[in-house]
Amino acid sequence: MTAQYQSHDGIAVITLDNPPVNGLGHSTRVGIVEGMTRALDDATVKAIVITGAGKAFSGGADIREFGTPKAMQEPSLQTVIDTIEASPKPVVAAIHAVAMGGGLELALGCHYRVTAKGAQIALPEVNLGLLPGAGGTQRLPRVIGLEAALNMITSGNAIPSEKFADTKLFDHVASDDVLPAAVKFARNVAAAPGQHPQVRNLKVQHKNAEGYLGFARSTLAATSQRFPAPLKCVDAVAASLKPFEQGMKDERDGFLYLLSTPESRALRHAFLAGRAASKIPDVPGDTPTRKIAKVAVIGAGTMGGGISMNFLNAGIPVTMLEMKSDALERGVATIRRNYESSAKKGKLTQDDVEQRMNLLRTTLSYDDIGDADLVIEAVFEEMGVKEAVFRKLDGVMKQGAILASNTSTLDVNTIASFTTRPQDVVGMHFFSPANVMKLLEVVRGEKTGKDVLATVMQLGKKIKKVAVVAGVCDGFIGNRMLEQYSRQAGFLLDEGALPEQVDRAIETFGFAMGPFRMIDMAGNDIGWAIRKRRAIEQPEFTYSKTGDLLCEAGRFGQKAGAGWYDYEPGDRKAYPSPQVNEMIVRHSKDLGIARRKISDAEIVERLVFALVNEGALILEEGIASKASDIDMVYLSGYGFPQFRGGPMLYADQFGLYNVAQAIQRCAKGYRGEAWQVAPLLQKLADEGKGFND
Ligand code: 3HC
Ligand code: NAI
Repeated sequence: MTAQYQSHDGIAVITLDNPPVNGLGHSTRVGIVEGMTRALDDATVKAIVITGAGKAFSGGADIREFGTPKAMQEPSLQTVIDTIEASPKPVVAAIHAVAMGGGLELALGCHYRVTAKGAQIALPEVNLGLLPGAGGTQRLPRVIGLEAALNMITSGNAIPSEKFADTKLFDHVASDDVLPAAVKFARNVAAAPGQHPQVRNLKVQHKNAEGYLGFARSTLAATSQRFPAPLKCVDAVAASLKPFEQGMKDERDGFLYLLSTPESRALRHAFLAGRAASKIPDVPGDTPTRKIAKVAVIGAGTMGGGISMNFLNAGIPVTMLEMKSDALERGVATIRRNYESSAKKGKLTQDDVEQRMNLLRTTLSYDDIGDADLVIEAVFEEMGVKEAVFRKLDGVMKQGAILASNTSTLDVNTIASFTTRPQDVVGMHFFSPANVMKLLEVVRGEKTGKDVLATVMQLGKKIKKVAVVAGVCDGFIGNRMLEQYSRQAGFLLDEGALPEQVDRAIETFGFAMGPFRMIDMAGNDIGWAIRKRRAIEQPEFTYSKTGDLLCEAGRFGQKAGAGWYDYEPGDRKAYPSPQVNEMIVRHSKDLGIARRKISDAEIVERLVFALVNEGALILEEGIASKASDIDMVYLSGYGFPQFRGGPMLYADQFGLYNVAQAIQRCAKGYRGEAWQVAPLLQKLADEGKGFND
């Protein structure tokens, strides 16, 4: 049982004890009800206190139970709360650290609430595509008012407990240890005469509820895009104006509806996948980590500067090393410009800017970086240059320093072989702009030490990245899959589509940006260089030649003012280019292809299943250790629609059988050699399973 019971001197204490955050799973719910029964049966008990063990009062319903029979098994959270609220003996919640979701709803069912200062109070269900389903939408407006409750419920934001000191949410804010304060409070109320208060009996009042709710609805309709939960939250909060039982019924209906939506499934998957990404199967959670107090970055170009900012933001000093002082000056100026621009937007104070800049040092000499705990190389993408840098680092860095490369395409094992300490070498593949993009692929070399991996994953969290481990292969997880996706985008042009149709179709599916707009932003020359290399290494690898024709015409993308689209000076908007479209049509003719009308559905199918099929190979080869890691890469680094939960979850929801069938159909079409159902995908489809099962 994951709730403990103790009684002492007339006060029973029920302690939620379900690590890590006292999620209200089935066994905890049973524990609370049994504790209540014991306390009510014991004539010596005068009052009951509910508290949480460890680092939270409660983080809410146990997210790991959603979608399993246990989630709905009695006693439900609703039953638990009804039991507490109906208790003739007073029940006091003693809240510390975190009261979120069902945890806060449980507290609202208690007669009294005592909180520690600084506890994080939230109803964050909307972030999981849900609404609070155990009375939160009905009781919170009754204690803090309609507007404040609606803001909390539709934003999911956490608010420190002391901000509610003047509301009916808390009866007492304790400045010391909350449990003794709650026990004392319980003793006092037990001795007082009269009924104990129930939040359900309060009335929600607002001068212009209809007007306010209408305003909230239209604002949220504009911002919540493809997510149904925010508007459902408004409906549920609006129902708090009705009699309590009716409001509860409306809330329940909304909750159950949302629970079954693919959007909620996607968000819950992303929540758990984000936490799971930091767990590496053969690296135990208690693996010792190395201390990272000083960082050095080699190369102050596009990536070096952005990478440095991550550490400066986290208060970690950085020394940037370059070959020439003008490169250093440019790098430092760019960092300062970025910070100043954040300050102008009000995101940083001028003090913050100076503090960060003061943590930055520059040098032209390796002698100045030998004592760094971590060095990240971000020099030109050429093996010869990397070799020179890593040989030098091997000579100067202190023992125990981690030597990382930000390479996007080169073999990390080869890079490690340039040193006498391959166990200390790892890939840290940041994405551009590195100070903004959330994703960090941590590339595990054959010899990378487990403690190095554990350290880098922990550091990833500290610098607020989504860190995902990838094995060594061309393109790691993200870019390897992207190559197949871009390849299909090219073939679609050969067959009859134009860039604007492909982009529009996949953006309507939900991608932040279609492949052609994206390539124009990144620079067409990068792909061109990779294709040239590929033509030598793997001459049988087919792809549409339209990308090469584009580059031969000097259309390198936004930076050249012309790419797949036309651009106007000072404007990033992509305008369809008659010249490019003509080139595409001519190319089809040269290939002898009769262009056909291609449906948007086919475009989406080919692009997304190209990702899925390559993802399956990546999984099978162990480049990614779990399907959810691949989803995290695509959600945090490649603009895959959040409401679809990543390519692998999308495939699961589509049905792997159907995916395999679609791929087999594609294999009979144009450039069918690009399609072979990945054996793992076929196997799971045959077994009726999903990648994430
Ligand atoms: N259920 C189960 N496990 C949970 C959980 C929950 N509600 N909330 C967090 N966890 C787990 C995480 O999966 C993670 O597990 P791991 O150690 O195995 O990886 C661990 O707790 C720690 O989580 P974090 O890494 O996020 O730790 P932090 O200390 O940074 O944050 C937190 C703690 C603020 C509680 C944060 O985890 C959080 O925001 N959790 C989500 C809370 C939430 O959304 N609650 C609503 C649930 S839905 C609900 O209650 C429905 C009800 O209305 C009926
Ligand atoms: P860049 O050309 O903007 O910067 C490279 C910098 O390294 C230059 O300032 C150069 O002077 C410096 N440099 C070169 N040789 C050096 C040496 N021996 N010692 C010290 N400094 C040296 O290149 P960018 O875009 O920053 O790329 C750097 C690395 O990051 C490459 O490996 C690239 O593949 C990788 N990468 C690039 C991404 C991008 O979108 N630009 C994304 C992810 C990784």
